[in-house]
Amino acid sequence: MSISNPSGRDVFSSKFGVIAAAAGSAVGLGNIWRFPYVAGENGGGAFLLIYLGFIIAIGLPVMLSELLIGRKAQQNAFGSFRKLAPGSMWSLVGLMGVVAAFLILAFYSTISGWTLEYLYQAISNGFAHGDTKAMFDSFKQGTFRPLMWQMIFMLLTAWIVFSGVKNGIEKYAKILMPLLFVLILAMCIRSLSLPGSSAGLDFLFKPDFSKISMGVILEALGQAAFSLSIGMGALITYGSYIQKQNNLGKTAVQVTVADTLIAILSGVMIFPAVFALGFQPDSGAGLVFEVLPKLFLEMPGGYFFAILFFFLLSVAALTSTISVLEVVVAYFSEELNISRKKATVIGASSISVLGVFATLSFGDLSGVHILGQSIFGIMEYTAANLLLPLGALLIVIFVGWKLKQLIVREELSNESTLRVKYFKVFFFIVKWLAPIAIAAVFLNGIGLLKL
Ligand code: PFF
Repeated sequence: MSISNPSGRDVFSSKFGVIAAAAGSAVGLGNIWRFPYVAGENGGGAFLLIYLGFIIAIGLPVMLSELLIGRKAQQNAFGSFRKLAPGSMWSLVGLMGVVAAFLILAFYSTISGWTLEYLYQAISNGFAHGDTKAMFDSFKQGTFRPLMWQMIFMLLTAWIVFSGVKNGIEKYAKILMPLLFVLILAMCIRSLSLPGSSAGLDFLFKPDFSKISMGVILEALGQAAFSLSIGMGALITYGSYIQKQNNLGKTAVQVTVADTLIAILSGVMIFPAVFALGFQPDSGAGLVFEVLPKLFLEMPGGYFFAILFFFLLSVAALTSTISVLEVVVAYFSEELNISRKKATVIGASSISVLGVFATLSFGDLSGVHILGQSIFGIMEYTAANLLLPLGALLIVIFVGWKLKQLIVREELSNESTLRVKYFKVFFFIVKWLAPIAIAAVFLNGIGLLKL
């Protein structure tokens, strides 16, 4: 149930609701679809190690920073900066988040649409002929079907955001996310029991540092930010719906742990199967869609597992897409003073137009290249590797250098229990460690600095 606070804004009704919504945002295609393929393209184990380092040293503090900014300001991402730093340029950080949200939802809805197609194929036993690669290629290169599923997915997202996030999704996320976790565990077991699977574990857990370059390190940072939903104000927006008595530190730790666990388990689910079933770990965005259907064919009860899996994957995607659209909708409705419904219609339809280009870049527009990348690729790279790290950098600088320490302390302590020790560590990270690390990785990764 959702209730309102005195200012009339919606709030999450329970502690668990906050975690379900924030974890729902974090856990999504980024963990199950993107993590394995980006890790696969960037060397596996060494990538994982760097990724984990970024999650702890940068991801968690940025997440906490976003939550506290939102809860203090009680505004959308743009309005939050304006309120906490009136008359300054800081609100541009919120605006950059809105731009990132547009790009992310445009390409994310392409993949979300794919999950619906795969759910449909699972139900109609479409993987049975076994050539899952050919099937995937012909589907993604099509025009009508991928676009149809993308639009259906956008409609679902808009419909939930339209009716207020907390009533529907918060309730379902609580049941469906744990179910997804159990199912992934079952699939890990099946994947690990295939003959030849240990090569997959070696790939994921034995670091080979020869693959690491500055570009790969930036990929790891981008993936960490993308997976945790940080750097674009999604968690500022969600933070603004969190009630004062909730402990933000605990929430951030729980969400980070859940997100990271699901990413690692996804790797354990995919890579043993990749090697055992004769796929290449670096086969890109199709990795999960080519390998998993084959894995289902090899599993007892695979027909039902496939349906359940793609259903839950669609749900995981949906709890993420609503948080992205919410950034845009909260911004439009509060800043332009229009109703939530109008804001949803405007936001979702303009993003859908952009999304058409992302989807068609696998087929009709596959000949179009920008800076050597497909339209989809450039959207993904710009959002995940440029806008999110840059957003994360500016957010920690804001909390470390601009916000009053007292405000930060109050938000983190719930006016009482915060241990000074934790506060000091957090403050050191947001003031020094995270900004320097993000700036160094970012500038090196895009080639502006040579360390
Ligand atoms: N964290 C989501 C995932 O891993 O699938 C994607 C995402 C959601 C990114 C919300 C950014 C965001 F604001």
